Amino acid sequence: MKIVLGCDHAGYNMKDAVAAHVRELGHEVVEVGTFTADSCHYPIYAHAACEKILSGECEAGILICGTGIGMSIAANKHKGIRAACCSDVFSARLTKEHNDANVLCFGERVIGIGTALDLVDAFLGATYLNGGNHVTRVAMLTDIENETL
Ligand code: RB5
Repeated sequence: MKIVLGCDHAGYNMKDAVAAHVRELGHEVVEVGTFTADSCHYPIYAHAACEKILSGECEAGILICGTGIGMSIAANKHKGIRAACCSDVFSARLTKEHNDANVLCFGERVIGIGTALDLVDAFLGATYLNGGNHVTRVAMLTDIENETL
């Protein structure tokens, strides 16, 4: 898969190890910044990453900030993006299987790099359970988007 990776300054120290790990898993990585440790604004990078997904260039994304929360809020402002802020492996797997999430977010100030890489493994290794109530519920999310965004 082609995976877009974005971070702000508070996720900057983690992003190179995450990028290397994603490449080791056999995926291509497209980085949208930030590319320095200077203070910056997470919505810029969330938006750049979501554009890559919504244009079809990338299939999924990983966004890192201090908590993962700002990135997930910004990403979820985009129609067609389902971003999940995770700090445990079970959630990272289930958000793909049940929610068909296309963006994984986490916080460098919340989890260590070992957990971050485990989250990446769980998220990228999972498959959406494309049937039944999951489809109904994801369609309901799209309905909400169409009414509100
Ligand atoms: C930056 O200080 C921090 O607010 C940001 O990385 C993120 O945690 C916001 O949700």
